[in-house]
Amino acid sequence: MKEHVVKTLITEGEVEARIREVAAKINQDYSGKPLHMIGILKGSVPYMWSLARHLTMPLTMDFMSCSSYGGETKSSGIVRLNKDLDEPIEGKNILIVEDIIDSGHTLSYLKKLLEDRHPASVKLTTLLDKPSRRVVDDVTVDYSCFVIPDQFVVGYGLDYDQMYRNLPYIGYVEFV
Ligand code: IMP
Ligand code: MG
Repeated sequence: MKEHVVKTLITEGEVEARIREVAAKINQDYSGKPLHMIGILKGSVPYMWSLARHLTMPLTMDFMSCSSYGGETKSSGIVRLNKDLDEPIEGKNILIVEDIIDSGHTLSYLKKLLEDRHPASVKLTTLLDKPSRRVVDDVTVDYSCFVIPDQFVVGYGLDYDQMYRNLPYIGYVEFV
């Protein structure tokens, strides 16, 4: 790990307030229909919890894990599934929960994988979106909390070499 400092980008209060707003919109859109949330491990866990506690429809959860190969900060487009879902999703309304969408490779792969299993619908929510880094054009973000510039961010589930996932705010890494 290179020498660095973490500076605040979005405060804990700002994150919590925005997640409440997004939850209210999701509650409105689904109007009581059951929802099956799929969290992408590990980064989505804090966001998944913060969002889920404000959702009011009948809710179930499952998790999957995948990794995309490439350099440390660049995604290659080759995605590997490390842990599949525990439950079938046929006929369910799916909400994929991500920490951040960067190149879009991970989501593009996951969406295809899930759609092949014939869910009733698939939507996507992300805590952070870096649209300036997108290299695929088939990823639609239905509910995004924050659009951020091209900075390397940590906290609220996001890591730098597995560190900082526990920070209650979103920071950016500055190398010194
Ligand atoms: P994508 O396939 O390029 O969209 O990659 C998304 C994944 O890359 C995320 O789930 C994160 O694990 C990781 N990632 C992308 N940008 C950042 C960042 O700024 N901080 C920490 N992890 C990141
Ligand atoms: Mg990650």
